[in-house]
Amino acid sequence: MSPAAAGAIGLPRHVAVIMDGNGRWAQRRALPRHLGHRAGAKAVRATVEGCARRGVEALTIFAFSSENWQRPQEEITRLMELFVESIDKEVDELHRNGIRVRFIGDLSRLRTGLAAKIAAAESRTAANQRMTLFIAVSYGGRWDIVEAARRLAARAVTGEIKPEAIDEALFADQLQLAGAPEPDLFIRTGGESRISNFLLWNLAYSELYFCDTLWPDFDDAALDAALRFYASRVRRFGLTDAQATR
Ligand code: FPP
Repeated sequence: MSPAAAGAIGLPRHVAVIMDGNGRWAQRRALPRHLGHRAGAKAVRATVEGCARRGVEALTIFAFSSENWQRPQEEITRLMELFVESIDKEVDELHRNGIRVRFIGDLSRLRTGLAAKIAAAESRTAANQRMTLFIAVSYGGRWDIVEAARRLAARAVTGEIKPEAIDEALFADQLQLAGAPEPDLFIRTGGESRISNFLLWNLAYSELYFCDTLWPDFDDAALDAALRFYASRVRRFGLTDAQATR
């Protein structure tokens, strides 16, 4: 980010979200956890629409982390079923609304049926330009960085690049979100104040917003509150206040 852009504020170009609290939402209603995830899927739909309507360019949602593979098998199975079902149900509408869908993460760990649906959804919506929805599945920030390092190391070994040519821009080009604007606003629902191995590289200068709302309850008013928080921030990118607000 150039100093000239520092301090520019208003609507975030890119919003990244940890959707936490589905399990507790279900527990409070004496429902099984998977019904919390189902309610969470409805909040995803509303948030995608809300962001697109407001002119956000990119939205990244953390649907399943590298660590979530350690959850009980029953919950993993239900979540994977929900992803398949959601793709089946939502892709037409996303496409009609001009949303490009991209999945990030270690997709090699997914069942072939889900991987095929992901590939089809990505290619169907590839030309859409209104907003890009990045869905992080089997994703970990450390995994992303290690993969990038591995790819660059392989290119260095063959002599395609010199180690000293590796800089931040080249490194960022190897990451899962290569080419996307850096997330301006990070939102985590569910009351915890941590990043939990999400976009470790990309969140370097993001404004961090934590709220107690459980993800299934995250509605348009909650999105507005997060966007108001963002609009109230002065982004400095390492500059002084005076430089940033000039
Ligand atoms: C964290 O809440 C949420 C998840 C691990 C899954 C997120 C998935 C969805 C919102 C489902 C829909 C997604 C798509 C892309 C259709 P938690 O289970 O850790 O909640 P808890 O902290 O209350 O237990």
